[in-house]
Amino acid sequence: MSLLAIEGLSKNFGGVAAVDRVGFDVREGEILGLIGPNGSGKTTVLNMLSGFLPPDAGRVAMREHDITGMRPDRLARLGVLRMFQMTRVFTRTSAFDNLLTAGMARGLAEAEATRRAQSLVEELTLGPVQHLDAGQLSGGQRKLLEFGMCFIEPPLVALLDEPFAAVHPVMREVMAQFIRARHAQGATFLLVSHDMPVVLDLCGRAVCMNAGRVIAAGGVHDVLRNHDVIEAYLGETHGDDEPPTLEVAA
Ligand SMILES: Nc1ncnc2c1ncn2[C@@H]1O[C@H](COP(=O)(O)OP(=O)(O)O)[C@@H](O)[C@H]1O
Ligand SMILES: [Mg+2]
Repeated sequence: MSLLAIEGLSKNFGGVAAVDRVGFDVREGEILGLIGPNGSGKTTVLNMLSGFLPPDAGRVAMREHDITGMRPDRLARLGVLRMFQMTRVFTRTSAFDNLLTAGMARGLAEAEATRRAQSLVEELTLGPVQHLDAGQLSGGQRKLLEFGMCFIEPPLVALLDEPFAAVHPVMREVMAQFIRARHAQGATFLLVSHDMPVVLDLCGRAVCMNAGRVIAAGGVHDVLRNHDVIEAYLGETHGDDEPPTLEVAA
């Protein structure tokens, strides 16, 4: 069953169609990958789904209720949360207190927020740094903290935009494990990522965009082997530090 149904979603920037009649479903409980070369419109889609950008056209429904164009705070209350923008890390407050504050802001009693913060600190391997100001954490630790703040009251669907980018491999694995565990508990994810091994590992299905349009959708292996998808990635210009990684393990 679909949790989010997206139809004809479009956004123009100065006459350029950044997102052009995009449609796909996010099913209840799945981790759906959203892939595509740089500039293909993935972030713009997430911005529209999370209410940060009003669509020019199209419709988004959650469990058959129209949520098109709703503001981010209202969507967050309905359980649609875009990580890394909804969460606010207070840099001069400890990592632990950031978690506590996030929990209380979402309506948890202090005792319950404390209990959940303690368990998230363990799960996210933030124990050794929990009493440091959040501003002193590494980029990866801070992303882990933001995961914790987002999931202290679990959303129905988490929209993740390149969460693994520029994160140390050890923390990347903690993050992947966290996503797997929440997925096992029924959370739904829309995951934008350039990291094909991670997409293959985590996602059952994927949607690939190119130049604002959906060019392939389906099982993740089929999408990554799709001719149009390979063409789209090969046509992309890469920096030396970012080679195309489309190899699909047998
Ligand atoms: N705020 C904006 N103003 C003008 N153009 C934008 C804006 N945001 C994105 N774009 C353009 O829209 C296209 C899609 O961008 P984006 O959604 O960020 O792609 P992706 O996340 O797939 O890399 C790009 O051509 C980008 O330059
Ligand atoms: Mg992007």
